[in-house]
Amino acid sequence: MKIEKIKLNNFRNYSNLELNFNPTKNLIIGKNGEGKTNIVEAIYVLAFSKSFRGSHEDVIVKNGETLTRIEGVVKDKRKTSYKVIINENNKIVKIDNTVIRKISDYVSNINIVLFTSEDLKLIKDTPNTRRKLINIELSQFNNEYLKILTVYNKILKQRNNYLKTLYLNGNASKDYLDIITDQLVTYGLKIHEFRSEFIKDISEYISNNYKSIASVDGLSLVYKSDYTNKSKEDILKSYKRSINSDIRSGVTSMGIHRDDYDFVLNDRQLKDFGSEGEQKNAIISFKMAELDIFRDKKGIIPILILDDLFSELDKTKINNIIKFIKEDIQTFITTTEINKLSKSLKAGSKVFKVKDGKIEEVNYE
Ligand SMILES: Nc1ncnc2c1ncn2[C@@H]1O[C@H](COP(=O)(O)OP(=O)(O)OP(=O)(O)O)[C@@H](O)[C@H]1O
Ligand SMILES: [Mg+2]
Repeated sequence: MKIEKIKLNNFRNYSNLELNFNPTKNLIIGKNGEGKTNIVEAIYVLAFSKSFRGSHEDVIVKNGETLTRIEGVVKDKRKTSYKVIINENNKIVKIDNTVIRKISDYVSNINIVLFTSEDLKLIKDTPNTRRKLINIELSQFNNEYLKILTVYNKILKQRNNYLKTLYLNGNASKDYLDIITDQLVTYGLKIHEFRSEFIKDISEYISNNYKSIASVDGLSLVYKSDYTNKSKEDILKSYKRSINSDIRSGVTSMGIHRDDYDFVLNDRQLKDFGSEGEQKNAIISFKMAELDIFRDKKGIIPILILDDLFSELDKTKINNIIKFIKEDIQTFITTTEINKLSKSLKAGSKVFKVKDGKIEEVNYE
């Protein structure tokens, strides 16, 4: 899968920009704050209809403007045009000029593996960040996943609201809570199955990848969930036991919204015991496992984005990543540190030099 071109209107610091990309490697270089990440962010928004940075959707709209438009042409088996239009309170997505009403039908079409310097902190980051990452991956692999997750989140919200009702009114019906809880568990178990399968797939690859990077065996990703190895009946019983504390706190204390994932190297939790280098290598192995799964399980070659990674990594680790990137993967690399990149990488790439929202193509051959 390759993105051939992108056209931006009022996106971040770009008023109007049109770029034609290389089917293999694209380097986006420039000083801090010039607009490098904004370009790869635009590709990401084209794929997912939302950004990986910032919590509000409209932060991507250029200051002083009201509407952002991102258009792109992606070549897979055939050429397809995609469009995302975002304003303060509305979002429209189109495929080949047809409006797609459900976002979940849109997001699994352009497949991206994004690897940013933020990801390097993943092991020490909050469970919420790890869940988000896995959600994004799974939404790309299977568009049912996002639909089910959306329903689960709605039911969870309903349950939490009803817990508050029960707190304020002791006479309100507990039967209704049972009905909501039953639904929550039904959908939760489906999510659990998707996630277990994904972690199993990742585990198949992550250990080998780590071995080829660090020459050490035994890295795995371990799924931690309230639902693991439990029947629906067991789970429902646990909810019954926690009913009073749930009513007191007004939140659902159990469920797949509290799932987490541990990186474990030969029985050692990297979160607590891993050195910084071990943690970085584990994340690189994880990200490369995503590429492996796309290729081997789905027959898809996704677009790879490496944003600002090289400021955080030494030359050996950079080379370990580059080693994984085969010619058939379209890759976007943003960096301030062009000197860290090898001559051959520079010569084989299309190079975009970014300065204050203006882009110039330069040649390193
Ligand atoms: N909504 C917006 N409207 C206008 N400009 C914006 C908007 N959001 C961000 N910017 C500007 O975009 C610039 C940052 O762009 P970007 O994050 O792409 O930089 P970068 O080249 O990746 O920098 P770094 O090397 O530090 O990562 C900043 O100057 C910022 O002010
Ligand atoms: Mg940046």
